[in-house]
Amino acid sequence: MKLWEGRFTQPSAKNADIFNQSLSFDKKLYWHDIFASIAHVKMLGETNILPKEEAEKICDTLQEILQDIESGALAIEGAEDIHTFIEQELVKRIGVMGKRMHTARSRNDQVATDFRLYVKDSIRTDIALLRALVETLVKLAESNVGSIMPGYTHMRRAQPISTAQYLNAYSEMFLRDIERFADCFRRTDVMPLGSCALAGTDFPIDRTMTAKLMNFARISQNSLDAVSDRDFVAEYIFACSTVMAHLSRFCEDIITYSTDEFGFIDIADNYATGSSIMPQKKNPDIPELIRGKTGRVYGSLMAILTVVKGIPTAYNKDLQEDKEALFNAEETVQSCLSIFNELLQNITFDARKMRTAAMGGYSTATDIADYLVQKGMAFRDAHGVTGKIVRYGIENNKTLDRIDLSVYRSFCDLFDEDILQRVKASHSAEARKSVGGSSKSAVRENIRSIRKRLEKLCKE
Ligand code: ARG
Repeated sequence: MKLWEGRFTQPSAKNADIFNQSLSFDKKLYWHDIFASIAHVKMLGETNILPKEEAEKICDTLQEILQDIESGALAIEGAEDIHTFIEQELVKRIGVMGKRMHTARSRNDQVATDFRLYVKDSIRTDIALLRALVETLVKLAESNVGSIMPGYTHMRRAQPISTAQYLNAYSEMFLRDIERFADCFRRTDVMPLGSCALAGTDFPIDRTMTAKLMNFARISQNSLDAVSDRDFVAEYIFACSTVMAHLSRFCEDIITYSTDEFGFIDIADNYATGSSIMPQKKNPDIPELIRGKTGRVYGSLMAILTVVKGIPTAYNKDLQEDKEALFNAEETVQSCLSIFNELLQNITFDARKMRTAAMGGYSTATDIADYLVQKGMAFRDAHGVTGKIVRYGIENNKTLDRIDLSVYRSFCDLFDEDILQRVKASHSAEARKSVGGSSKSAVRENIRSIRKRLEKLCKE
């Protein structure tokens, strides 16, 4: 059955049908399509646009169709798209009465409604996965408050940091991702149904009632916009893209830190892979795949942005391309979030190696300069004196805490014995008590704040 064949003198070509169809991928929307149709038909009954008994019969049959799909008794096939499939099945079961379901509705507002319902559910799942990930990170941070590692800029040792502070940095990123999804949810939570093909309808529908039945917070205010607005799809995929960017950076770190050269992190055997040719190898395939899959989510973002840029006002079939882009981003981000959470629970830090590395590379040189500034020297001069001490260390193969006090004093007589404490990695990290800094108290405060914000965001 075609919903539109009346006007045509010839049946459509087989290849044209294959090309036009969306059932192969939009069958994912069956639940949301039935849910929306039930709300629509209930409203048609309440407003007497359809006789109440007919409305009830249609709704009951839609429920039966849903059960049959879920039990596997009814296979989704043989129609142009999911909307046609459900309607076709309804007509098969209750005859002409089934055809009345589509009163005061078009597939244009129907698909937009189904998809918004679908995206709202997806966002709920994404937020739950992000929440679980932040909870893992917070636990990991709590057990690493006293651990020190090198902080890098330009991939060169810069300053010692707390390992918990490092982990908290990613919690902050994922909290922003939750916020972005929550924000996207608010704009997705608008019901387009009742916009019909593009101009609205002459039936006395009650859009507020339908919205209530579907738990939409608001109804759209312009039918032309409502049938073709896919901003929510682009926003959703953008939110997925930032999640992937953050996961990818984290994976990049894990890959680097788990090399033999660094040796900061060990990935448990059951989350690593071997090489078929080099028996000694233990490869970080999972983080590499996550890093690689980022590209396909960005690809979906480019796809949807490109689709919407050319859409003349109101619905055009190009918009059917929104679904695969979104499904691809959704599936990728959700599978990456869950496997990454498992991976994190299966890595161990080598605290000793990290601390030793934090002490190397003259990474407490800034502390020497700060020390001199606190004793009254201008920072620029202090920077110069410290540079000379670092050069001495390099030439004599000595870390900053192994250089004798007499040597420090030979560079500047402002140095006292306490300088040898000040250049220790743990002292350096502990000294950074500013809000958001690496001292234990600042890091603990950061953890408290992350927990609080997570709680609040997930309650909303
Ligand atoms: N399968 C279509 C889509 O996903 C449904 C809407 C069809 N509307 C139309 N006027 N052809 O966009």
